[in-house]
Amino acid sequence: MGPGLWAAVLALGLGLEAVWAQPIFPSITNRPFIRECVRVHNEFRRQVVPSASNMRQMSWDAALARTARAWANKCVFKSNTYLSKRYQCHPTFEFVGENIWIGSYQIFDVQTAVSTWYKNNIFYNFSLHTCIKNCDRYIQVVWATSYKVGCAVHFCHTVENFQGLDRAAHFVCNYGPAGNYPTKPYEEGPPCSRCSNDKCVDKLCVNAGREKLISYDNWYPDWDTQPRPPPRPRPSGPPADTPPAGQPRSSCDSYCLSVLILRLLFLVLSAAGIDCWRHHVDNTLLYIPTSLLETWSITKTCLKGHSGSKRSNNSFPLTLNYPNHNLS
Ligand SMILES: *[C@@H]1O[C@H](CO)[C@@H](O)[C@H](O)[C@H]1NC(C)=O
Ligand SMILES: *[C@@H]1O[C@H](CO)[C@@H](O)[C@H](O)[C@H]1NC(C)=O
Repeated sequence: MGPGLWAAVLALGLGLEAVWAQPIFPSITNRPFIRECVRVHNEFRRQVVPSASNMRQMSWDAALARTARAWANKCVFKSNTYLSKRYQCHPTFEFVGENIWIGSYQIFDVQTAVSTWYKNNIFYNFSLHTCIKNCDRYIQVVWATSYKVGCAVHFCHTVENFQGLDRAAHFVCNYGPAGNYPTKPYEEGPPCSRCSNDKCVDKLCVNAGREKLISYDNWYPDWDTQPRPPPRPRPSGPPADTPPAGQPRSSCDSYCLSVLILRLLFLVLSAAGIDCWRHHVDNTLLYIPTSLLETWSITKTCLKGHSGSKRSNNSFPLTLNYPNHNLS
């Protein structure tokens, strides 16, 4: 094939990618996603300096995750407007806290997002309880008495209030009970020295009763616009991990088939991409793309004739926090 034909094939691939490629982000019932959200929060909570004497372990909450999903789905660059309304974000927590990360979908992962919030600790002076700027996100992550967390990530083709950010990951975490009241986030002291009757596990106060997973079968935020599963007849419903009705099915339907066929097509295109890469880039890398995304970035890089980085970098990692109770 001549170079003109290759270019045509690559351009076709690019066009198809632009229309079809969309990351498949985990749902709020995806166990690895749940584990990662909880793990990363607890990892940061046990790292605080100075050390915390009363830091509770966080566990997952399905209702907080539904609130996070309902807001993430809106693809708007601002805090959840229902946070200030009692019981609008959770059936039993009167108020909940929130952190938001929004950025290019290519660079999203839970660890990156939560560490972006945590790294704002550099603006906070614990002993004086003073803040230079943007401490709320950090303070919510390490708020000792917030013991429940629920997060959701949504792919947004565009983001309202945010010109220039397309194809973004919108990641929202909600916390119960809410933090960011005008006190220090935790009490300083040897880890676990103020856990009262809780157990101490790896510097965190652990209480199985408090952390129990509740499925909240029939609770959804009133303002959630996405279709709800039908009410569950019995309280002892399926385990929390079962996707509710209305969620994507697991069998391969026609959509899934077309995705498979497209993946096959891109496998071929990726071979073209590597070939092109070798011919057009000095810094030759024998790089086997393992996903649509990587295929796309190689193709793009190759078409643009860039050398060096193998991933496009048009990232705008930004965070928002609902400052419900600002430091004075
Ligand atoms: C907090 O501020 C005090 C007074 O300015 C200072 O002595 C102390 O080192 C600061 N602590 C940190 C962790 O920056
Ligand atoms: C993207 O670019 C920014 C600055 O332009 C840089 O700080 C960041 O490390 C880059 N990220 C990646 C994944 O290359």
